[in-house]
Amino acid sequence: MCGIVGYVGGREAAEVILDGLARLEYRGYDSAGIVVADAAPGARLDAVKRAGKLDALRSALQGSPLSGHLGLGHTRWATHGRPNDANAHPHLSEDARLAVIHNGIIENYLELKDRLQAGGHHFASETDTEVLVHLIEDHYQAAAELGRARERLVRAVRGALTEVRGAFALVVAHADHDVIVAARATSPLVIGLGEGENLLASDVPALLPYTREVVFLEDGDLAVLSRDGVEVTGFDGAPRRRDATTIDWDAEAAEKGGFDHYMLKEIYEQPVVLQNTLFGRFAGNGLDVRLELELDPRAIDRVVVTAAGTAFYAGQVGEVLIERLARLPVEVEVASEFRYRRPVVDERTLCVVVSQSGETIDTLEALREARRRGARTLAILNVKGSSISREVDDVLYIHAGPEIGVASTKAYTAMLAAFELLALYLGRGRGTLPDALAAELLQGLRELPQQVQEAIDRRASVAEVAERFKERRDYLFLGRGVNVPTAFEGALKLKEISYIHAEAYATGEMKHGPIALIDRSMPVVAVATASELYDKTVSNLQEVRAREGTVIALASDGDDGIRRHADEVLYVPAVHELLSPIVNVVPLQLLAYETALRLGRDVDRPRNLAKSVTVE
Ligand code: AGP
Repeated sequence: MCGIVGYVGGREAAEVILDGLARLEYRGYDSAGIVVADAAPGARLDAVKRAGKLDALRSALQGSPLSGHLGLGHTRWATHGRPNDANAHPHLSEDARLAVIHNGIIENYLELKDRLQAGGHHFASETDTEVLVHLIEDHYQAAAELGRARERLVRAVRGALTEVRGAFALVVAHADHDVIVAARATSPLVIGLGEGENLLASDVPALLPYTREVVFLEDGDLAVLSRDGVEVTGFDGAPRRRDATTIDWDAEAAEKGGFDHYMLKEIYEQPVVLQNTLFGRFAGNGLDVRLELELDPRAIDRVVVTAAGTAFYAGQVGEVLIERLARLPVEVEVASEFRYRRPVVDERTLCVVVSQSGETIDTLEALREARRRGARTLAILNVKGSSISREVDDVLYIHAGPEIGVASTKAYTAMLAAFELLALYLGRGRGTLPDALAAELLQGLRELPQQVQEAIDRRASVAEVAERFKERRDYLFLGRGVNVPTAFEGALKLKEISYIHAEAYATGEMKHGPIALIDRSMPVVAVATASELYDKTVSNLQEVRAREGTVIALASDGDDGIRRHADEVLYVPAVHELLSPIVNVVPLQLLAYETALRLGRDVDRPRNLAKSVTVE
């Protein structure tokens, strides 16, 4: 996720901003920029932007230091547009008197950009953010009667906000005004309250050297910061009361957002991450998706998916989705096998590689093998600029932000969301997905972030289960249909951070051998949420219980009958079966986390594991 820092007060803004951006580096980024000024009539904003890390920006500033007591800074995690100087934030108006930085996605930026260009605006970047600069500029000109009154800038920002759709955090400065204007619409923003100075940032660590009194902005808040104070209203101008919070975290805890571990922070980030993955990709007709892909859905007649670990399980969910919605045959193969199998692929085969890091050597080599054999390639990928991103025909970025915990959580659910979008894209493009189902799935995807939040909010009941079974030495995970991979991912999460042996099976396979394992010592975690195969799953649970097995059932809200067939029930919101892997995995992530915690494991850095396996 990008980093934002703003300052207004008596210090040199550049020093405060660079220090703050450095404290947000853990969030990952690929370019950085800063703008400072001392507001005065006719003043200009001085900005320096560089691709790469903060060191590149610092060395540029050594050549031309910036002086001023108001400023904005940004570290960019590229979404729209390559990581280069022009696309780095801040973005300035053509007269260099207005500057904008931004986190998140402007869903309708293309239509706005077309309108603004038709109105004579010239764009200097490929980003969605730059649309905001020109919009605010137009509204600022329209409020000329207000002269240099602070209200003129505030009104310009409010006017622009009425025209944009998306999930974002927006921060604005103008050379005529000694204030910073900030707006939050999903992406986090926090204000630091000082004496004769005020700050803002995308996360707490940037503020801690200057203040521990902070105000967390909420969705729909618009804040005006001057050196003497902070005013918070809604986008409509109605005053909003926001109480200050005293932060008692140390710097490292602050980087984890107050969570004990990155893994837990990343589990909790999933609702916002899903918004970043999905929003901006729904077409206005409520039936289609808009993916910026070269791929012609009718130019392929089969799909091969290859990946490793958690990404492989995401691919297995993708297999069911693509076959069901696009009626294309799909096969999924672990990359370490695919790359040596002399795979049968050709120019009508779409090879989908899935990777959080984009550096997993097995997946990268599998991609190269598929390309050598003529396949068309597409990556479902998190890290922009990674090796895989440079070697595929198309990339569908998951926008999960940097994932620090070795055990993948938010990247997995973001990969699943990306597969939902890809399956919809292929199905609609091939004419195999009827309007009614497309509309139902798209509406379901819009509701998914909130339902994932509800699943996260039930953490306490998962912790009780973890407490009861933490000493068990073996677990069995079961799932059917689109949730077979959910069972495998749940087993992987548990084994890789708690070191408990856990294996997974398709529920229907249990009677072909694994049922010999069942006894009172081995908990059986069964995905038994709403499904066409629910009754068969219940029969399997009865088979487990008949052998004194202990059943921990994942069930959909409202299913009271399941209690007769399970020792423990973990409920999740009821969603469309084809969307259920995204919600169902949340309690399994939490089960692994709460168990590992109780066993004193190093949750973020489990033994023997690396975040990205770049060696064979
Ligand atoms: C997931 O919890 C593991 N850390 C691991 O299986 C990981 O998914 C796998 O190594 C693939 O990594 P990638 O997504 O970066 O390619």
